[in-house]
Amino acid sequence: MPAASDWQARSAWLRAELDRHAHAYYVLDNPSIPDAEYDALFRELQAIEAAHPEIISPESPTQRVGGAPLPQFAQIAHDVPMLSINNGFSEEDIVAFDRRAQEGLHSESAVEYACELKFDGLAINLRYENGVLTQAATRGDGSTGEDVTLNIRTVRSLPLKLHTTTPPALIDIRGEVLMFKADFARLNQRQRDAGQKEFANPRNAAAGSLRQLDSRITAQRSLRFFAYGIGKLDGAAMPATHAALLDWYGKLGIPVCAERTVSQGAPGLLDFYASIAAKRIDLPYEIDGVVYKVNQFDQQRILGFVSRAPRFALAHKFPAEEAITVVQDITVQVGRTGAITPVARLAPVSVGGVTVTNATLHNEDEVRRKDIRVGDTVIVRRAGDVIPEVVANVPERRPADAQEFLMPAHCPVCGSSIVRLEEEAIARCSGGWIKCAAQRKGGLLHFVSRRAMDIEGLGEQLVEQLVDRHVITTPADFYKLGLTALSELERMAQKSAQNVLDALEKSKSTTLARFIYALGIRHVGESTAKELARHFGSLDALMEANEEQILAVNDIGPVVAHSLLGFLGDPLNRELIAQLRAAGLHWQESEPGHKPQAFAGKTFVLTGTLPKLKREEATEMIEAAGGKVAGSVSKKTSYVVAGEDAGSKLVKAQELGVTILDEAGLLNLLESQA
Ligand code: IVH
Repeated sequence: MPAASDWQARSAWLRAELDRHAHAYYVLDNPSIPDAEYDALFRELQAIEAAHPEIISPESPTQRVGGAPLPQFAQIAHDVPMLSINNGFSEEDIVAFDRRAQEGLHSESAVEYACELKFDGLAINLRYENGVLTQAATRGDGSTGEDVTLNIRTVRSLPLKLHTTTPPALIDIRGEVLMFKADFARLNQRQRDAGQKEFANPRNAAAGSLRQLDSRITAQRSLRFFAYGIGKLDGAAMPATHAALLDWYGKLGIPVCAERTVSQGAPGLLDFYASIAAKRIDLPYEIDGVVYKVNQFDQQRILGFVSRAPRFALAHKFPAEEAITVVQDITVQVGRTGAITPVARLAPVSVGGVTVTNATLHNEDEVRRKDIRVGDTVIVRRAGDVIPEVVANVPERRPADAQEFLMPAHCPVCGSSIVRLEEEAIARCSGGWIKCAAQRKGGLLHFVSRRAMDIEGLGEQLVEQLVDRHVITTPADFYKLGLTALSELERMAQKSAQNVLDALEKSKSTTLARFIYALGIRHVGESTAKELARHFGSLDALMEANEEQILAVNDIGPVVAHSLLGFLGDPLNRELIAQLRAAGLHWQESEPGHKPQAFAGKTFVLTGTLPKLKREEATEMIEAAGGKVAGSVSKKTSYVVAGEDAGSKLVKAQELGVTILDEAGLLNLLESQA
């Protein structure tokens, strides 16, 4: 231990000690010194750094908490998209998942899986460059998230520097940010004491804490992290299995949960599920299920993805949380497409930590099928984030005067008649966008929503006022708003009005996919909008497309095509589109069918014999993704793909510090950037 007089050596020693104790406390769950001693060491380091500010570096344990709050979060585009995962609920679902995997792999023997927990928090991407934490981003919409680096730096269980002397040039570590149950209880106690709003559950508390613009607040919130995946990796070989990846993370000082195992086939998965279900209540954090992933990465690559989710992974969810309460009334809600949804108004009840007062009954047939009446005692269910629903009534508790639900004949908002087409389950208000304020509000809110035009500050209350005062009828009217009109609204200071105008201005620069999605065309969700944008490349090409051309788009069937053609054929909608373009909405158009070139600008050198791919095949794959294949290694080489008996090129690559991949690494890179 260096003497206190040798301040340079002493500060280096203090940093190492503090990191070691924090890791023991937060990650190994095995505190190595009393809190008071830790605090004393911490204060000593702070004092040295105050006297010699030139030695302060961002990795010092004293530098976790930032200074002034941010004005807003910056957007970060993920190099590799952050996907979601399919859910299974029953034993049959799991058996079917395993069977699909085994068939997909043409395997005779049982498939090997990595089993882990499904943490109930928020997905995050942590970027370490040359071992140093440089960036952290939320999942966002999967393609783009928010920069929460300053907040993530306050998470004490996360190393600011990886525990290795040979870190990868770049690694994107993925996992979940969450709050432990005990920290959540303490936080809510503090909120109560301070007369502030309590958080409904640890997940909301974690989300609220992570999305703080002031990292000094986040620092007081005890967030945790568990790793479960990887994005981009440069400058290190990818481990062969998911289990090995997590082991590697553990060695790098990244928290990985100990509750994980490798098992074989569906029986192994179900055993893991049962063992975790039995432990769930005693775990210090909340989980909503377990996750199974095919363990071998080369097998994961074979299985690939369907739509937005991998075929190689499944979340096995615990049964949704349920509670019993009384239906006080059944009213209807009018959605943006005019859909009338019956809603049960409930005596307030806590379901999984959240107070529920409304639950959806979906549609008229559902109300009949479940035979739900006003006065009934019912079971309500809330599964994670989804809208609470009424599951069933409790027949023996039905009062004699229970009232049956009748679908009203007229829209409660605009008075137009409610119609239900024969083949449809949904009854709709016939007033349409022009007559029915509820539909207008819904459509306008959709237009400004985060995944559509993303106009911050235009929330429900504001849109409501704007519609009620007849200031706004169509989305194009948003772009005609002025400072005076906005400032006249309730609870609208000049400054917030200006913010809204700024947000509107900013939203004009958008993408074709967002624009298509924002139009709120029935059956055209986010991923369909992306497909359409990619396929047609320009709005004009889409607007001129006929049915046959639309049906040629990936994943688009007759129902979507019909709805799209109906929308685009309507002169009012064409006029709306023209007005929005005239207002200045613009985006980058591209060649039809253009795929972003993942390897554009990247140069590869192949050396040695690859296990499966011929030289020509590998070259073709790289070139198809926009990359170049060169004959010799230089500083400009992006990657060297080395097989067996690789010679001088490999040595040269090592000397120059060029990223070296094996065949699996190349395939992984291609797959992950596809
Ligand atoms: S893997 C390509 N593993 O669940 C697979 N996700 O629906 C990407 N989550 O956004 C996800 N625990 O927030 C994975 N052990 C786990 C997880 C997990 C929780 C969350 C995560 C993700 C969502 C997927």
